[in-house]
Amino acid sequence: MEKIAIFASGSGSNAENIIRHFAGKEDFCITRIYCNVPDAYVLERAKQLGVPATVFTREEFRHPEGIFRQLQEEGTDFIVLAGFLWLMPGHIVEAYPNRIVNIHPALLPSYGGKGMYGHHVHEAVIAAKEEESGITIHFVNEHYDSGSIIFQAKCPVLPEDTADTLAERVHELEYRYFPRVIEETVMDLLD
Ligand code: GRF
Repeated sequence: MEKIAIFASGSGSNAENIIRHFAGKEDFCITRIYCNVPDAYVLERAKQLGVPATVFTREEFRHPEGIFRQLQEEGTDFIVLAGFLWLMPGHIVEAYPNRIVNIHPALLPSYGGKGMYGHHVHEAVIAAKEEESGITIHFVNEHYDSGSIIFQAKCPVLPEDTADTLAERVHELEYRYFPRVIEETVMDLLD
């Protein structure tokens, strides 16, 4: 049984989609939602879906006896960042080589890095008059959005797009691909 933990800071629609994807699959378990924002909607989703959640402070995140210890004690095999904005501390990255993935709502290496999240990404893509955007699923290292790329999918950027309409199109790609790319990535580790 592969134990997967999800880190999320916001609405958590991807987290919910991932939980639903793995529900009932015998070889996988979503063990816990980790969240650094006490009033994030992802916590409500976790409650409704019956998945345990931990809310943590920056100190608990950075200290090896904090979140890392809980991950280890629960036997966590794999970590998914789904709308999580803090950089992973070095001790967690080192303990989970090629076992932490993130999703970014654009085609990296463009439109990534510090401050490039949520609507900022889509606004920058529209301002640059790009004809395509999409999603990037990548391994996580100690820098923003720079780990090796596992998967990308594209969608058009339309002339009339706002950040909201583009975000909606990108979210559709996220919902379609993220769970299955997670599943394949975990399976590859077992080979
Ligand atoms: C997604 O667009 C994801 O690409 C980005 O943060 C957003 C999270 O949305 N990293 P949600 O909280 O899953 O609804």
